[in-house]
Amino acid sequence: MNLQTRIRLNDGNEIPVEALGVFQSAEATKEAVLTALKIGYRHIDTAAVYQNEEAVGQAIKESGILREEIFVTTKLWNEDIRQGRVREALAASLQKLGLDYVDLYLIHWPAEGYVEAYKTMLELQKEGKIRSIGVSNFKIHHLEKVLAETGVVPAIDQMEFHPQMQDNQLLAYCKDKNIGFEAWSPLGRGACLNNPQIIEIGRKYNKTGAQIILRWLLQKGIIILPKSVHEDRIRENAAIYDFALTDQDVEAINNLNENKRIGPDPDNFDF
Ligand code: A2P
Repeated sequence: MNLQTRIRLNDGNEIPVEALGVFQSAEATKEAVLTALKIGYRHIDTAAVYQNEEAVGQAIKESGILREEIFVTTKLWNEDIRQGRVREALAASLQKLGLDYVDLYLIHWPAEGYVEAYKTMLELQKEGKIRSIGVSNFKIHHLEKVLAETGVVPAIDQMEFHPQMQDNQLLAYCKDKNIGFEAWSPLGRGACLNNPQIIEIGRKYNKTGAQIILRWLLQKGIIILPKSVHEDRIRENAAIYDFALTDQDVEAINNLNENKRIGPDPDNFDF
């Protein structure tokens, strides 16, 4: 496995196991994406609400790398779900990105109207504007609703997942249904990095806490989207393919779960 290794999704498309996340990367976005692409990342995870799709698109263009070699994810924002503006929202995202299709389009949160939005996304997929359709922040009951009403299993569910917040029921459900699982804030926005047990494990492998956590997620079959705007960290977060955690160390990190979210609960968000 390496930075460009791809996993096959339930729709036949393939997704690189690691992305650069750009949530809150702000004016540093373009440089961060260019740096990541130079290092070998081939997967960028953005969203309409991050307001940096233009910078992502510019970096992709300037990198000179072929469009089809880069996997681009963006997300449909809640207000557009509620207002039924899926087509308009995707058109705006594509224009900002400077692309004619996205590799993965996610429903960002299960806002009211998400089943209708999903149906429209299925049409847009047929039209070639979306390669893979997925969801984000969907719990099992949201996934069940989409399944019951459309019969189409999403390719991806992207959820908060890190050592402090492990929804293993959801992970098992996704595995069972062949839904690819992505972890947002894999480092718990930095909160997990100072955990003494993780640092202790890192000493054994001569790796940082961030590298241990990312490797742990990979070994659980989870797609990782670490965010950084610093070249040294973007490199560090990619230097995780030259070692493997023992089952015992994986288990030790599993045991750190506190079901403690840093983000909102998808059953109770107010935006
Ligand atoms: P920065 O962008 O300044 O490097 P997550 O992906 O879990 O949301 O975590 C992102 C946060 O962790 C950001 O604040 C980012 O800061 C920081 N970060 C990313 N990679 C590392 C790393 N390897 N070591 C320490 N902090 C990191």
